[in-house]
Amino acid sequence: MDQEFTLTVATSSDALIARAVDDAPQSWASAEEQALFFRDVEAADWAIMGKNTHLAADKPHRRRIIFSTKSKGWQRPMQFWVDPFDLSPADLARHVSARHPLRKGLILGGTRVHDWFLARNAIDRVNLTIEPVTFVNGLPIFSDQTGSDPLAIFLSRGFKVVSERMLNDAGTRYFELIK
Ligand SMILES: NC(=O)c1ccc[n+]([C@@H]2O[C@H](COP(=O)([O-])OP(=O)(O)OC[C@H]3O[C@@H](n4cnc5c(N)ncnc54)[C@H](OP(=O)(O)O)[C@@H]3O)[C@@H](O)[C@H]2O)c1
Repeated sequence: MDQEFTLTVATSSDALIARAVDDAPQSWASAEEQALFFRDVEAADWAIMGKNTHLAADKPHRRRIIFSTKSKGWQRPMQFWVDPFDLSPADLARHVSARHPLRKGLILGGTRVHDWFLARNAIDRVNLTIEPVTFVNGLPIFSDQTGSDPLAIFLSRGFKVVSERMLNDAGTRYFELIK
């Protein structure tokens, strides 16, 4: 395999990733989740995300591939905007490789970015943090999810748990899954 893609996602206990499009996880996720998130960002060659996720935490110097139907091309030296409609994950790597090879890709969401990788069977690993908060309304992990149990949403899509632990006394749960 030339590229490996890890989905790192924090969810509420009812399987939502945000209350609204401008609701960045740092406003509700635990310090322990944030530490693991930054570990994954540091380990990745490129992070892939949608426009809203990019804008909710704009980091001009991070290597990012940003999905959008409206903006395209290099807008900063290490930030490439693309409409991925008829592309594959390997195409993404080809677009950015001259600036930095894409071997480890980090999928950062939101919902339709998760959908894009799932539809291409290209989510190799999942680092799932479930925070002890309930949103009731908000953005789902995947567009077509029906239940509200975050772990079950991944298990029903063929992922398997390889490790699990409690991150803190508040009840934040952390799972590593593989396809
Ligand atoms: N809890 C978590 O782990 C987590 C993870 C990720 C995001 N979030 C949060 O979720 C919120 C944003 O999520 P979101 O679902 O609204 O948005 P998003 O995916 O970040 O942004 C949506 C926009 O990105 C573009 N886009 C996304 N997928 C695309 C695709 N497959 N093809 C073409 N364009 C695509 C489109 O832009 P155009 O309109 O330009 O076409 C779309 O309007 C933020 O608050 C963010 O912080 C949380």
